[in-house]
Amino acid sequence: MIVGSISENKKQESRVAITPDILKKYKSLGIDIHLCKDYASHIGIKDEEYASEGAKIFVNSEEVLTSSNAILQMNMPSDENLNKLVKDQILIGVLNPYSNEKKLKELILKEINCFSLELLPRITRAQSMDILSSQANLAGYKAVVEAFANFQKAIPMMMTAAGTISAAKVLIVGAGVAGLQAIATAKRMGAIVFATDVRLASKEQVESLGGKFLTVEGAENLETDGGYAKEASEDFKKKQEELLKETLRKIDIVICTALIPGKKAPIIIKRNMIEVMKSGSIIYDLAASQGGNSELTKVDQIVDSNGVKIMGEKNILNKLPFSASNLYSKNMFNFVNNLYDKEKKRFEINHDDEIIDKTIVK
Ligand code: NAI
Repeated sequence: MIVGSISENKKQESRVAITPDILKKYKSLGIDIHLCKDYASHIGIKDEEYASEGAKIFVNSEEVLTSSNAILQMNMPSDENLNKLVKDQILIGVLNPYSNEKKLKELILKEINCFSLELLPRITRAQSMDILSSQANLAGYKAVVEAFANFQKAIPMMMTAAGTISAAKVLIVGAGVAGLQAIATAKRMGAIVFATDVRLASKEQVESLGGKFLTVEGAENLETDGGYAKEASEDFKKKQEELLKETLRKIDIVICTALIPGKKAPIIIKRNMIEVMKSGSIIYDLAASQGGNSELTKVDQIVDSNGVKIMGEKNILNKLPFSASNLYSKNMFNFVNNLYDKEKKRFEINHDDEIIDKTIVK
């Protein structure tokens, strides 16, 4: 069997699906790797690093697409590249089935098997493949680094002969994977950290990282059986707004990470709440590309509202492409390994396997 990967649109995506360190593992299964020239040179990985681990490098991406049994990507390939795929080939990536419905229908009609990794069930066996967690973890870290870099004051408390600098106060909205990493990163830098979430289970996790958990008095636990958040009621939203408005008066930096799967991100930090924040404060909105948790977020722009800077990027992981690719490549290998029948030495689409059945786009 051959797995291949071609360059993404490098202006929009810097991450790659295969890094050289994982090639030995593919080889040990007897799987060959085909890549196109300059596959990851933009992030400092030379073609020779892949070739020395046994990958075959092609000048033309068409040769990679037509020679591979499975194509491993970050995002949905361009229409031009999709048109080159044929029956029984496999396409794996973050295919965004809700926005790419039409393209996926056409691929399925051509009997191309498409697997979208954001559909992975959150079960123990799938943890090593969980691209949402590996990428959210890095995003949470980088959001804090970006926000701190734009903040005009020091983060930790410093007692010097010239006087004392007080520690920055950080609020994390949404204490899931990204939020918990944001808490840990901000704490390491010496900030005083507060966090809020609609899932009450997150209280213990926030506190174990040294954060202070803020919640609406008497709130019900808005957690689904799958561990995700439910949409909050109007009453909850009103109480959350009052709580946050009071809190935001003393907060220097807000990191927003709140998401509801399959829906637009909830607007939590409203315009009237931003108005009470101190000039010089920062809001970093990790939910920007899903509509934003702050009412004033504009993707890939820094909005200034009375001295409060509101930031959010389409793809913050483009600022950490090496680490993000490294983890994605490992997640991807673990997924491919599960799809590969070691006795028959070929990919087997076994619908009895929950991981395969939930990720294949039907
Ligand atoms: P996510 O990215 O969908 O959402 C981020 C956070 O925002 C969540 O904690 C959510 O509760 C919170 N949120 C949503 N609406 C909010 C609102 N209005 N106000 C405040 N917070 C709000 O979630 P993520 O980070 O992917 O993880 C969610 C859950 O999945 C967690 O319980 C986590 O422990 C669990 N998980 C389980 C894994 C497994 O394999 N068993 C792997 C990774 C995560």
